[in-house]
Amino acid sequence: MTRTVLVTGGAGFIGSHACVALAAAGYEPLILDNFCNSDVRVIERLSEIIGKAPAFVEGDVRDKVLLHKVFREHEIDAVIHFAGLKAVGDSVAHPLHYYDTNVSGTVVLAAEMQRAGVKTLVFSSSATVYGEPECSPIPEGADCRPESPYGRSKHMVEQMLTDLHRSQPDWNVIVLRYFNPVGAHESGLIGEQPRGKPNNLMPYLCQVATGERQSLQVHGSDYATPDGTGVRDYVHVMDLAEGHVAAVKHAGGRPGLLTLNLGTGQGYSVMDVINEFERATGQPIARQLGPRRPGDVAAYWGDPARAHKLLGWKARRGLAEMCADSWRWQRRNPAGYASRLGVEVAHSGIELAQEL
Ligand code: NAD
Ligand code: UD1
Repeated sequence: MTRTVLVTGGAGFIGSHACVALAAAGYEPLILDNFCNSDVRVIERLSEIIGKAPAFVEGDVRDKVLLHKVFREHEIDAVIHFAGLKAVGDSVAHPLHYYDTNVSGTVVLAAEMQRAGVKTLVFSSSATVYGEPECSPIPEGADCRPESPYGRSKHMVEQMLTDLHRSQPDWNVIVLRYFNPVGAHESGLIGEQPRGKPNNLMPYLCQVATGERQSLQVHGSDYATPDGTGVRDYVHVMDLAEGHVAAVKHAGGRPGLLTLNLGTGQGYSVMDVINEFERATGQPIARQLGPRRPGDVAAYWGDPARAHKLLGWKARRGLAEMCADSWRWQRRNPAGYASRLGVEVAHSGIELAQEL
């Protein structure tokens, strides 16, 4: 029996990949997105990958009336809640906007789920809830000391869902704490489309490789790490997407509340990523060693053992695949969803798509 999964934020980076994984596993994704940080053209790209257009509703997750209508008109079995705002610096500048979207948005969604009798929810949390970790690999039981309004908004939602589950033990809630999602679907049709100058390492590297940015600033080379640069747990977005399918499967008919790390359990330094990215692109990446970025932690990576034990999920794709897939997406779509090499736009600065 096909089951419908409401995917809030399903047009975004992780949500769009989750729709592909859900469809591959026989689920029907129903996307709800207001496109505030995504592009409506992702729907066409998803149709190409999946083989049919996914159902989608344009709208805001805080819109109670709309949500009521969505739950009334569709037979929804489970919800994956990606819709939210995620930029740490922006959350410091606009905290109320972050609490409204991330916290109030989840309150409205959960209330409408309750009204409709839909009690299976997978929530996108982040390793950022741990703050500066005491040790790595970080287990789920580690203290949470989020350091930004963004991190606190995710932690508040986690606490709220814990209270909800306490009061209504027949809910199935799975909180997924992602480490550093990178990569793209192997087709090169969907990927991450940062607005403006990227903050994160992988999209920045991609733009240096296309020539859009001159060089990468390495934020700190004097950390107490093997090569002095920051160490993170990068995880391929398709592995994450498959983790969501495993969570939905696990939650089906099994009330409970679970909090799980989704990462590889392996840390890579900025230099490791640059070296692997150079191999993937076959070109040198200009870089400058700069000062530490305020608020950055030297090193952390997750302990994904619980997700393996309970969901049977394990990240399968390594750093080489993460770099190759990020680059394929970037190279074929130099202006994101507005362009596609060799199809809608021929970008003069880049060779027309040859296979990697
Ligand atoms: P994204 O910005 O690409 O996707 C979020 C999607 O939600 C976008 O399509 C956006 O248009 C939509 N959206 C935002 N506010 C909305 C609203 N009020 N109503 C309806 N739609 C709305 O981000 P992503 O990287 O795909 O992240 C997805 C989720 O995972 C977020 O909740 C994020 O906080 C969390 N997360 C992301 C990362 C990461 O590094 N990408 C790491 C940890 C956790
Ligand atoms: C950041 C967010 C985190 C979010 C994660 C998503 C902060 C404080 N944290 O984490 O909440 O979940 O992104 O992936 O913003 N680096 C460079 N040069 C660059 C960019 C990054 O050297 O131009 C380095 C950083 O110093 C860090 C590593 O690359 O050591 C990864 O950085 P980034 O991709 O921004 O992720 P995080 O800082 O881990």
